[in-house]
Amino acid sequence: MKAFPFATAKKIIFGRGSVQQLSDELKILCSGKIAIITDEIISKAGPLDTVKNVLHGAGLEYDIWDKSKSEPSIESAEAAIQFVRDGNYSAIVGLGGGSVIDTAKAVAVALTNPGSLSDWVKQGFTNPLGPLVLMPTTAGTGSEVSNAGVFATAESKYALYSPLMYPDIALVDPDFTRLIPAHITANTGIDALCHALEAYVSLKSTTITDALALQAMKLIPDNLRAAYACGDNMEARTNMSLAALLAGMAFGNAGTVIGHACGYAYVSPSTKFHFPHGYSIAITMPYVLEYNAIANMEKHATIAALLGESIEGLSLRDAAISSAIAFKKLLADLDFPSSIKEVGVTKDMLPDIAKNVFKSTTHVARNPRKITEEAMVKLFEKAYEGKLDCE
Ligand SMILES: [Fe+2]
Repeated sequence: MKAFPFATAKKIIFGRGSVQQLSDELKILCSGKIAIITDEIISKAGPLDTVKNVLHGAGLEYDIWDKSKSEPSIESAEAAIQFVRDGNYSAIVGLGGGSVIDTAKAVAVALTNPGSLSDWVKQGFTNPLGPLVLMPTTAGTGSEVSNAGVFATAESKYALYSPLMYPDIALVDPDFTRLIPAHITANTGIDALCHALEAYVSLKSTTITDALALQAMKLIPDNLRAAYACGDNMEARTNMSLAALLAGMAFGNAGTVIGHACGYAYVSPSTKFHFPHGYSIAITMPYVLEYNAIANMEKHATIAALLGESIEGLSLRDAAISSAIAFKKLLADLDFPSSIKEVGVTKDMLPDIAKNVFKSTTHVARNPRKITEEAMVKLFEKAYEGKLDCE
């Protein structure tokens, strides 16, 4: 076995009601005023009130910036950075979905580094982050344990990566996810599943990331269906929060593959799509699984079984390919479209979208099966028709 690194948040606190530990943790991390980064939806919902009560009860001073946008633009994150630079803050708390968490990471970079987000995306940054606590309110992105943030412009998406960008604390309280609407539960939960299965087949997977990805894949299929069907099911919600956290640690180290690259590929000046992150990846994932299956049949057969497919009596090849069918069944249960033509993709866009996949060079490099532009066009043609070869 080759030597490998594994990195994640410096500390993880998981469980219902764990928000009550926030003030004690912040007292260890800092002694001054705290900036809470969130968005208007969270600002009007329960989680922010809970956090405010905890900080108030402990006598901690804080201000709130709640202008974070979904799929954050570089400009929106720069506005949060300006807010923090104008104040005198000693720690950052990010409270929200993946977009808020990513914005909070950029803000924590700004506490200790000169320059702008655009500079850091291009050239990186040198100083360790200011004190940072990340608290997800969705069960999906796993961004609270990764070292990346994704920011959009009108033309493309840009990722800010750094080995310095792990938070001090990932505090995951599943109670925060209780009021998430069903369609967001589906979009974020399916993202977590894609993190787990892409990390599992990634060429950078390790024994540690495999263990995390396998456990996440065990938890997600039944619990995601149950949480989508009934948002009050807190057992399902708690299992989804745990699965998203495990998947986050897996892909934070093994990376994702062309499933995520295909999702990003829909955004371009010619298509102008702005699908939610998990949704954009999920609508192409069955075709990615079918394409990748022969590269690692053992792992794809395991994915099929974990997603609920009966693989007994099947050849290894057929078992591996049935991972695509299993994923499609999950999409149907979550009311996702069964083809990309249903979401506005037209046939003439396919060559451009296929070409865009190659912009995500690291995803392509980690993919278990080599890809060509021709193969990607064929993959998107199948997604367009909504029909796998094996169907
Ligand atoms: Fe993702």
